[in-house]
Amino acid sequence: MATTGGSSVRVGPVPFKDVEHDGDMVTTVPERPSEEHVALVSALPCCTIAGMSNTKLCCYQGFWLPEGLAPAAAALQRRFEPRPSDVIVASLPKGGTTWLVALAFATLARRAHPPGAGDHPLRRLNPHQCLPFLEGMFISGLEGMLDALPSPRLMNTHMPLAMIPGAVPADGAGGGCRVVYICREPKDMVVSLWHYFRRVHPDLEFSEVFDIACDGTMPWGPFWDHILGYWRASVARPENVLFLRYEELLRDPAENVRRLARFVGMPFSAAEEEDGVVRGIVELCSLDSLRGVEANKAGYVDTRTKFPREALFRKGLTDDWKSHMTPEMACRMDDIVADKLRGTGLAFP
Ligand code: A3P
Repeated sequence: MATTGGSSVRVGPVPFKDVEHDGDMVTTVPERPSEEHVALVSALPCCTIAGMSNTKLCCYQGFWLPEGLAPAAAALQRRFEPRPSDVIVASLPKGGTTWLVALAFATLARRAHPPGAGDHPLRRLNPHQCLPFLEGMFISGLEGMLDALPSPRLMNTHMPLAMIPGAVPADGAGGGCRVVYICREPKDMVVSLWHYFRRVHPDLEFSEVFDIACDGTMPWGPFWDHILGYWRASVARPENVLFLRYEELLRDPAENVRRLARFVGMPFSAAEEEDGVVRGIVELCSLDSLRGVEANKAGYVDTRTKFPREALFRKGLTDDWKSHMTPEMACRMDDIVADKLRGTGLAFP
């Protein structure tokens, strides 16, 4: 149990698996959807991903969400009430979620769990077991568990910002919480997504994933609208949204961990800097270190879709797209991105 100053008052974030009843429930969609769920989904445009016929997406307010999670968007919009101290890690799949989840947990929980500790939760749990997955909670009837978590709560989501309106109130309004978004160069993200999908759908062609990314129908897409929602909010309300980039994190992880710590109101003290706490967090969360943890070598990300946890840790490089895309494909995606991002102040060099 995390404590403060030796007292028994719990402080967050606590490793979520340690407080939930069943560690595999974090991202699990119920086998039998509720009537409300069925009614909502049946009213939405839906499609299946070619080559992944059991993967159905439904378009909710302009975003293609996995069918099982679409009603969570409506529930989040209606019922999610952030606390001012909440921190939400947001991303698109394959944007660097797992890395940021680990870094955020290690940073926020460092007083209860120093990064060098042999029993650090990230040495026995998959990073995703340390945080509740927001949409998973809202679809599984586990919202009450969120209420029971001590502050500050640390959660993660793939939802577009529009689905969590309470997190970043409209211009001029106070309140909300803190959101840390990680964004990755889209071509690399799509390549990473294909490798991931292939672990469960080995016959899936790269061109099939490339096409759904380009036409906007990839899960949680269109990716440009997802990224721009958080980007614009980070410009308008930098006190609420920190916009990080995967490539920058690779280039200088320590400096980005310091940014993260300052943003959540827990800057590293001179003593912590001297003790190498930042370096410890970076090492603890490095790809090699996480890959070596038993909990990351076995088991599934989610018991329903059966993606192996070890598939979360692949190469962790930039420019892998060069080994997968023809020049024409790269050009097509670059043109889409340039067109969608024009005038926004955001660019991918
Ligand atoms: P690649 O497939 O390009 O290697 P997500 O966590 O959003 O699913 O993203 C997965 C991607 O992040 C994968 O990219 C994976 O290798 C990379 N990744 C996971 N952990 C990482 C870490 N600690 N450092 C750098 N990259 C990491």
